[in-house]
Amino acid sequence: MTTIVRTLIILLLCLLTTAPGLARDTLTAPTVLITGSNRGIGLEFARQYAALGWQVIATCRTPDSADQLQDLAAQYPHLSIEQLDITDHAAVDALAERYADLAIDVLLNNAALLGPRDKQVLGNMDYELLRRILEVNTVGTLKVTDAFTAHVAASRQKKIITLGSRAGSIQMLNSPPDFYAYRASKTALHLLMKNISLALAERGILVGLINPGLVDTRGLAQIGPDDPVPDDFKGVVRLLRSGVLKLTSPAEAVDQMIALIANLSAEQSGVFLDADGQVLPW
Ligand SMILES: NC(=O)c1ccc[n+]([C@@H]2O[C@H](COP(=O)([O-])OP(=O)(O)OC[C@H]3O[C@@H](n4cnc5c(N)ncnc54)[C@H](OP(=O)(O)O)[C@@H]3O)[C@@H](O)[C@H]2O)c1
Repeated sequence: MTTIVRTLIILLLCLLTTAPGLARDTLTAPTVLITGSNRGIGLEFARQYAALGWQVIATCRTPDSADQLQDLAAQYPHLSIEQLDITDHAAVDALAERYADLAIDVLLNNAALLGPRDKQVLGNMDYELLRRILEVNTVGTLKVTDAFTAHVAASRQKKIITLGSRAGSIQMLNSPPDFYAYRASKTALHLLMKNISLALAERGILVGLINPGLVDTRGLAQIGPDDPVPDDFKGVVRLLRSGVLKLTSPAEAVDQMIALIANLSAEQSGVFLDADGQVLPW
């Protein structure tokens, strides 16, 4: 071994042993923390980031029954599962504290509650459901963002990504109006993320707000002509069958969003974006 190679190895070892923070930030794979990663888009984000070699902290409410996530954890040693209900503020704080020394490159606010359609319309408003939806989608997402901002600030990529929805765009709202609670929760969330983007700009943190598009997280495209269709999605399935509507698969949508997140610019921070990067109206 030449002297130069020996010196380089010693320098590298010194870096790893005496400056763990620096070593973690400069020498290892980036880290993503995802909420609601047991199914749907969150599960697909966990799968794709793990396949890309990222350190994945995949959180969900009930890890014991998260079979697909458990399979991913068995396949990828750099994917760890954490229990987290985002409405449990003490649990959010405890998880943030446990990972206090970890730099999180991408915080991915994915978890949300849609709720049944017929219980969130004028004349048949379930107020308990309204409160619950706001508690999860708006308050819970804000709490997670607040608790993990320091971890993101300590990272190299410094990105807070939140999945919004065109359902929360006032300008794009058409008749017949439905999903009042879900829509309102996302509109408020959009505003919060705009606020947060302004608040964190000087710390170099980018806040991405992305509408994933119409993603088939419920297997609607696979429903056969004689299969039962859930009431809430009868209209969607009718449009799908007539060819008027096309749903993206979770794999396609997440692939597109990961590319958008990777290239997110300061100009796109706090802007409401479609998964393909197009700007959407508020
Ligand atoms: N799919 C679409 O077409 C579409 C369109 C626009 C926007 N989005 C947005 O994209 C995101 C993902 O959508 P999706 O279709 O994948 O949703 P989904 O299939 O309904 O999954 C929602 C996820 O959020 C979790 N969750 C719900 N309440 C939670 C809580 N209190 N704490 C932690 N996790 C909780 C669920 O966990 P449990 O399994 O424990 O309930 C589940 O993992 C959401 O923010 C949604 O609003 C989706």
